[in-house]
Amino acid sequence: MAGKKTSRAWMREHVSDPFVKLATRQGLRSRAVFKLEEINARDKLISAGMCVVDLGAAPGGWSQLAAPLVGAGGKVVALDILNMEAIPNVDFIRGDFSEDAVLKRLEQALDGRAVDLVLSDMAPNMSGVRSTDQARWAHLSELAVEFARTHLNPGGTLLVKCFQGAGADDLRREIGALFDSVVVRKPKASRDRSREFFLLAKGLTDEARQRAQPGETV
Ligand SMILES: C[S@@+](CC[C@H](N)C(=O)[O-])C[C@H]1O[C@@H](n2cnc3c(N)ncnc32)[C@H](O)[C@@H]1O
Repeated sequence: MAGKKTSRAWMREHVSDPFVKLATRQGLRSRAVFKLEEINARDKLISAGMCVVDLGAAPGGWSQLAAPLVGAGGKVVALDILNMEAIPNVDFIRGDFSEDAVLKRLEQALDGRAVDLVLSDMAPNMSGVRSTDQARWAHLSELAVEFARTHLNPGGTLLVKCFQGAGADDLRREIGALFDSVVVRKPKASRDRSREFFLLAKGLTDEARQRAQPGETV
């Protein structure tokens, strides 16, 4: 009964959400696109010719925004555990990012091309148990940071979804040691009551990139 009430309340909030309405009117895949749009307008992340990796991409709002911005000379590789309908000029890989075989498929799709921008909007399926959900997010974000460290061009950029709570300060410190700058972004489309925020790290240092271990793809 409580579950039904919660899902009814969620649905009411969802359908009256101005970003959901705007996304529907504009034929966009998700309200999440407005988060990246705001950050990109402010921080100028995406430009023509870039190679972008979109982790946790479904249903596809971020890739839908990135693909026309990188243009024909650029590349967007999107990955999600869920299926995603095709988007022109986006290579999609379906799989769990925490699995080595899936990482290999992502590397194959990159075809030796170094990455300019790693986006991670990955969020685990919420169990409702805060400590469990926070630990799952922390694991996914660690994997995204490690991928960024080993696949970004020196000078490259990482945008990663975070949740306030255990592990968030550690992650910020860890990212701060790898990049020239790291700032917090909380776009308007990220609900006030949500613990969600984004860390934007610019300028992967040469030193961090060279710390890749023997055998790693660099
Ligand atoms: C907030 S949604 C992303 C929304 C997307 N940025 C957009 O604009 O449409 C988070 C996504 O992370 C994905 N995800 C969660 N765990 C994952 C994993 N281990 N590997 C790949 N994707 C994962 C979920 O399936 C979900 O689609």
